[in-house]
This record gives sequence, C-alpha cells and structure tokens, in this order.
Amino acid sequence: MIEYRNLRIALLGAGSVGSQVARLLLEHGDELAARVGAGLELIGVAVRDVDAPRDTSIPRHLLTTDAATLIQSADVVIELMGGIEPAREYILLAINSGADVVTGNKALLATHGPELFDAAEQVGAQLYYEAAAGGAIPIIRPLRDSLAGDRVNRVMGIVNGTTNFILDRMDVEGDTFENALAIATELGYAEADPTADVEGYDAAQKAAILASLAFHTAVPVEAVHREGMTSVTAAQVVAAQKAGYVVKLLAICERLTDPETGVEGVVARVHPALISRRHPLAAVHDAKNAVFVQAEAAGDLMFYGAGAGGVETASAVLGDLVSAARRHVAGGPGVGESTHANLPILGIGAVSTRYQLTLIVADQPGVLAQIAGVFSEHGVSVEALQQTVQPAAPSVLAAAGAPGQASEPLTATLVIVTHEASDAALSATVAAVSSHDAVVRVESVLRVEGDTP
Ligand code: NDP
Ligand code: HSE
Repeated sequence: MIEYRNLRIALLGAGSVGSQVARLLLEHGDELAARVGAGLELIGVAVRDVDAPRDTSIPRHLLTTDAATLIQSADVVIELMGGIEPAREYILLAINSGADVVTGNKALLATHGPELFDAAEQVGAQLYYEAAAGGAIPIIRPLRDSLAGDRVNRVMGIVNGTTNFILDRMDVEGDTFENALAIATELGYAEADPTADVEGYDAAQKAAILASLAFHTAVPVEAVHREGMTSVTAAQVVAAQKAGYVVKLLAICERLTDPETGVEGVVARVHPALISRRHPLAAVHDAKNAVFVQAEAAGDLMFYGAGAGGVETASAVLGDLVSAARRHVAGGPGVGESTHANLPILGIGAVSTRYQLTLIVADQPGVLAQIAGVFSEHGVSVEALQQTVQPAAPSVLAAAGAPGQASEPLTATLVIVTHEASDAALSATVAAVSSHDAVVRVESVLRVEGDTP
C-alpha cells in the first residue's frame, strides 16, 4: 500500500530520450509507484520551444520554458537537455534546492563531474547517471555497487554506437567509411555533425566516466588519450579480416605500472584497434555497445546492449528515477562517489601494446632483413610477418626513391605484428622505417588488443 506523499518529478528536455521518459512515466506511472512506494508525479517538462513537434505527445500544460522555477518545486530532477550550460547550472540549482538528480549527460559529467559530486555530497543529495555511458546497458551501477568489493584491473568497451555501426558495415558489407557514415546518419545513429562520434570525443567522455568509477579516481576527459577512426580504410579492414582480426573503436581504461617510474596508476585511451575475431567484443555488431570488465576476483564480465536510442536510454533513466525516489521514501545517504584511491593518471607512454604495421617496400634482396633490423634496433620484437608481392609501376618506386626502380618494378606488402612495445618505441620505429630507402610508404599502424587469433 502506498502511504508516502506523491514525489514531484521535473524533466528538463523532451528530445529523443526525454520524450520517451515522459511517455513511459505517464504510461507506467502506477507500476513505478508500486515499486517505489510513492506516486511519481510529472510536474513539468522544460524545453526551449513549447510548440516544437515532439516524438511523443506530452500534455501541453506540462511544457514550460521556465526551467528554474520548475526545478525548485521538484523532489527529483531529470536532466536530459545535454551540453554543458545551462545543464550544469540547472543541476547545481536542483541539488541546492534539495532535489536528487538523474542525468544522462556524459559531456557534463566528463568535464564537471567532481564539481557536481562535491555539491551533491555537501547537501546529502544524490546524482544518478546510468544513461551517461552505454545507454541502456547497466554498467555504472555494476562498477559502482556490484564490483565495489572487488579490484577492477581493466575496462575495455565499444561505447559509441555510430562508430561501431560504421566499422561493422566496413567489415561485414565491405562498405567504405563515407558510405557507412551516410547510412548511420540516415538511420539516425550519427549526429548531424558526427565529429564527436568519429573523432572519439563521445567515447573519451564515456571512458573518463568508466575509469573514474572503476579505479575510484577522478579521471578528467582531458586525461583520456584519444584517436578517432576516420583514417581507418577499407583496405585495413580487409587486411585485419585476413589475419583473423576485426577493427573496433575501443575505450580502454586500465590499472598499470609505469615502466619508467614503477608508479601504479590509471590510463584511459580511445583509439581504433584490432581485436581477435574470437574475442567477445568482436561479436558486437551494428550500433550495439558492450563493455568487457576484468576484475581480480570476478574474472571476466561482459555487459552488452543498446548504447543509444531514445526509448532504450529511457530505460536506464527510469531505473535511476526509481532509485532516487526510493531513497526519498526510505531515507538514507545513498551510494556516493568514491575517489578514495586517487591514483596517478598516467600518459599513453606508460602503455605497452602489440601493433600491426603495414609497409609497402621495394621487393629487393635483403630488404626484409634490413626492416627487421630497424625494429630490433628500437627494441621492438616482431611476432609475425606476412609478405605479399605485387607489381608496381616503376614511377611509384622512383617517386619513393627506392633503388633499382626501372629494372625491378615490384613492391611487396609487409604486414608485421609486433610483440608488446611501448608507444615511444613504436613511434621511433615507425619514424625510422618511414625514412628507410626501401620503404615506399607506411600504409597503416594499428594497435592490437587481446590475444592472437
Ligand atoms: P535532444 O537534442 O534530442 O533533446 C534535447 C532536449 O533538451 C530538447 O527537448 C530541447 O528542447 C531541450 N533543451 C535543450 N536546451 C535547453 C535549454 N537551454 N532549456 C530548456 N530545454 C532545453 O537530446 P537527446 O535526448 O538525444 O539527449 C539528451 C541527453 O541524453 C544528452 O546529454 C545525451 O548525451 C544523453 N544521451 C542520449 C542518448 C541518445 O541515444 N540520444 C544516449 C545516451 C545518453 P526543444 O525540444 O524545445 O529544442
Ligand atoms: N552518438 C552516441 C553513439 C549516442 O553513437 O553512441 C550515445 O551516447
């Protein structure tokens, strides 16, 4: 039986996610109320334009452009406007007005998270954000609560649906980047300006959030090493296939020891990488997301599902709303952010990974040995090497300054997979092979994560 007074819910934003949250809250209000032990009353929805067309029909009298007044009458404020300002200002107002806050705003949390968590802690409010990484996938709560008794060592995820859709199309359909992006835009996965997706900014924000939780350390988005996936070519994807790999844009957060200083710290990075087709992340197709967590006691865990989409993301938002509302009814301090470990944040230089390099070289006696020698000089050990020879126009070789161009018009493609090497050692090796006489060009350099296929 529900005895508690109705809880007053304010919604900021009625776009893709907000309109679905409003619909589900109005349609399933009784069921949610039974779970909470109190009625949930949607008291208003703040938007920019009350007359704009909406995905779902929100009663006209609930729409307002006066977010500040709405916030100050609410027990729980759900922020789904996106962006930094005025979302930050509104969340602070909600916290200081005694409300708990639910948000899916990864951009804001990745840049102003500590400020918001501190403000909430000072007044005993709670900030819930399950939708901010992985959309509908429960990953925030598992990292914050379920794994609070374990020691997480690594979080490796596909956390951007648009880029996974593009890379998957390139892999499965043999599509080009441009065509796959056009389809992603048509299907509504990619933003009108897809820069945040394809250049890895969106994934870096999510990596900052996941790393902060996993390692009990505030990791700002500026500390995340970021490389986009616009330079991944159809040829690289095909070469990866042949070698038993698939190219994915990965967000990797790990605890490791800096080889230079011996200091244990945290590294977060986003970049395209090869993973074995047998790795669980290789089976993540279309615009789906997945996060692979490695913990000391729990071992390997995989969280999979819809990383975006209005109604899917609304599921995570409503889960947070139920938690926030239950806390209002039952009282108690809530979970709180834990940054007690405060580990040093290390740069990409502390990371060692395997690499796959594709080189176009002059097909001459001794070239292989010379190239192998360059790797060895820089302390980079070769794990595997594949060579294919193809005819090339003499002009290509001449342009590259390769010897014997007129009499031996052949080039070879060398695909070299290294053992683990540091970023610095690999960069020095690439620089040296690039300027080697027999090298026509360095076609591609990609990191390799996980086991050999
Ligand atoms: P939309 O752009 O679709 O909607 C934004 C909404 O906020 C609109 O209703 C807009 O009003 C309103 N709004 C924007 N600025 C203001 C303002 N200054 N004052 C009042 N209202 C304002 O965003 P989404 O629904 O896609 O995303 C919302 C949040 O959820 C973002 O933080 C996003 O990162 C996050 N998220 C989104 C996912 C998705 O799949 N879309 C997945 C996971 C997280 P109006 O309609 O009048 O223009
Ligand atoms: N643009 C994002 C994606 C939306 O493609 O994953 C969800 O954060």
